[in-house]
Amino acid sequence: MHPDVEKILLSKEAIDEIVDRMAAQINEDYAGKTLLCVGILKGSCVFMMDLIRRLTDVDVEIDFMVASSYGSSAQSSGDVKIKKDLSRDIEGIDVLIVEDILDTGNTLTKLMGVLRDRKPASLELAVFLEKDLGIERAIKAKYLGGICPDEFVVGYGLDYNEKYRQLPYLGTLKREIYS
Ligand code: PRP
Repeated sequence: MHPDVEKILLSKEAIDEIVDRMAAQINEDYAGKTLLCVGILKGSCVFMMDLIRRLTDVDVEIDFMVASSYGSSAQSSGDVKIKKDLSRDIEGIDVLIVEDILDTGNTLTKLMGVLRDRKPASLELAVFLEKDLGIERAIKAKYLGGICPDEFVVGYGLDYNEKYRQLPYLGTLKREIYS
């Protein structure tokens, strides 16, 4: 285990099971169809690559967006900016947004609104984790991996100060690392 990690919340094996389950649902729902999977960089990249390799019954295409809502602060500002947009038009296309974590939901509420206005045939959301904030969000993920505690979680694409994304498990950080 990485020395900065306090506790492993999801082992690699547990993550594999979750992604298997999510992929099975998506394979069933989009069997034989073309699906554009849109990853929201950077956090989603590890999850997205694991997910699409399991979408054996779907014609998968991929694209990416970059959004920023945090600026230099650790708190979501609610002011979401698109820093990199899709490289294609999505009118009439089945689109699945792939994201690592739903925190306040500000980022995805904004992005889903922007993409919906472009008239895709369908627009759904696959989120690996939702933070347990005890709040009602404006958006819900059709495909959800699990709920995680409201702590600094890292690994499996998730970072703290851009580090720990490569860890193959999901863990909490030791308090002295972030305080
Ligand atoms: C994280 C995460 C989501 C967003 C969720 O991204 O990947 O995009 O925050 O927060 P919200 O629900 O409160 O909007 P971050 O801005 O940290 O960038 P990263 O993906 O590059 O780590």
